[in-house]
Amino acid sequence: MNRTFAAAALALATGLSTSLSGTPASAQGMAPFGSEEDAAYAALIWQAMEAAGLAGDHMIRTLPYEGVDPHGKMLETFYTTATIDGHTGNLIVKRNYGPEGVEADAVLADPDKHLGAITVMYQREEGYDPDNQNWFWVKFRPDGSIDKNPKGMMLAGMVAKGADVGCIACHSSQDDYIFTTDAIHPVMMQ
Ligand code: HEC
Repeated sequence: MNRTFAAAALALATGLSTSLSGTPASAQGMAPFGSEEDAAYAALIWQAMEAAGLAGDHMIRTLPYEGVDPHGKMLETFYTTATIDGHTGNLIVKRNYGPEGVEADAVLADPDKHLGAITVMYQREEGYDPDNQNWFWVKFRPDGSIDKNPKGMMLAGMVAKGADVGCIACHSSQDDYIFTTDAIHPVMMQ
């Protein structure tokens, strides 16, 4: 189910390097997530998800299972790989359903009504974030837009890197950053 979005990514990267030139994120002391560049990369991930039938119209459904906080009460989780900008990496997609107490049948009967968010991990190329096994984190709203934290920052990129709470802090308790399974062998690791 791999698709390549190299052309689109290249076009984006070119446009971005022009528009961002002279204002590197580090120089402004900006957070390691939530930039326009992160949003553009997240859009490529969403495209890959649509191409793989994991988002958008006619997306694949599975029987939701009971999850744990903070991801919602009923979850669907998918494991695959995707090729973005010439790099192939692990793609993990989690759909988060609510409200509390909702049953699998109710979700399956009307998934769109119950879908609260889609949280995604994508393992990017070597050197992206070596401190955290190069995972890119993003929280999508059901329509594919990027959710924001209370400060209005888009939740895409190295989300909350260096903070005590958030995607990276919580997932770093797992040696491969993956809670649900040890069966995934990260593409970038040997
Ligand atoms: C407080 C801890 C915590 C935080 C914060 C958190 N997660 Fe998770 N995450 C979990 C747990 C626990 C699971 C396993 C849930 C299950 O399936 O029952 C999980 C599962 C996942 C999975 C499926 C892969 C896996 O690890 O099993 C993805 C993808 C994911 N989270 C993305 C995110 C993203 C993106 C963020 C930030 C926007 C985030 N998570 C924040 C605890 C956390």
